[in-house]
Amino acid sequence: MMGRQGRRSALAVLLLAGTIALSACGARGAGAGGGGGDGAAGGETFTIKLSHVVTPATPKGQAAEKFKEVVEERSGGRITVEIYPNSELYGDKDELQALQSNSVQMLAPASAKFTTVAPALQVLDLPFLFDTVEDIPDVVSPDSAAGRAIYENEALAANNIKVLGLWDNGLKQLSSNTEMRTPADLAGLSFRIQPSDVLRSQFERWGASSTPLAFAEVYNALQQGVVDGQENPYSNIESQNMHTVQSHITASNHGYIGYVLVINNEFFESMPADLQEIVQASADEASTYNREVAAQLNEEARTTIEQAGTTTILDLTDEERQAFRDAVVPSVWQQYADVIGPELIDALLAEQGA
Ligand code: LMR
Repeated sequence: MMGRQGRRSALAVLLLAGTIALSACGARGAGAGGGGGDGAAGGETFTIKLSHVVTPATPKGQAAEKFKEVVEERSGGRITVEIYPNSELYGDKDELQALQSNSVQMLAPASAKFTTVAPALQVLDLPFLFDTVEDIPDVVSPDSAAGRAIYENEALAANNIKVLGLWDNGLKQLSSNTEMRTPADLAGLSFRIQPSDVLRSQFERWGASSTPLAFAEVYNALQQGVVDGQENPYSNIESQNMHTVQSHITASNHGYIGYVLVINNEFFESMPADLQEIVQASADEASTYNREVAAQLNEEARTTIEQAGTTTILDLTDEERQAFRDAVVPSVWQQYADVIGPELIDALLAEQGA
């Protein structure tokens, strides 16, 4: 990987080239708040419904709790946050629609979940974007090339969606009921994927097929053999009990689960300026907290899986991991250059020394 300086240069080139246009925010004004107050400035109160699909114990669940705690405290009770975890209010299939119609005001979906609305966000789904979790803050931050491409994404703005932060759940591992030491071991297996073309292509190049399914459906699909395997960080595998129906995990660290913390822009704009600042500052604090806990929660989840004794975890050698990487980098990255942005792909490949 290229050092910090190199990344800054790559970013500078990208910005100078002016390839990413700053997009205008969505509609402004009062009266937007189905989940809010009356929308006028002053002492009125606002309620933010924040819906997500994982358990409260995961890095996203914990960051959501942190956001609630900070925003309620800083606003002196003028903002209340109601968190709906575990797809209990909305799931993968309807949560973005619910956000746009202001039935919920905030979400933190994984990048792949935005594919139909803003396909360029699949940048975070590129396989082997990171070698280790330590690389994450350099590549994904509000002022990195990838981060700016997300904050300034025109399709999100056009859909009344404002980005408040970038959260994550670390790196993904492969699970199935067979040992997966080489890409050839995946040949003929079927994997559940998030609805991302990049992820479909990744599995294709490993000789496997894939089926997009909502997160809430994954455990049952694995248990009933609808699919053979899936990819997720340990915390998602453990908290959904996937390990109880998967005999093998390959510690591949091959991909990233990056969350885009978003708010209905019209709702956001309906709040007085001081509350908007509090929401953004609280999102920033929750983002820092998310990064602090993500690695640790995933390590703890790996230990829990090991102790459960249901699943063999295979740690790949550098050479074995490289074989998985060679099958998809740079081919999958280049395949999606037009979708993600050729300049961004080039900048990221340069960072990788590819
Ligand atoms: C998945 O669908 O596998 C993940 O995006 C779930 C999540 O939100 O971590």
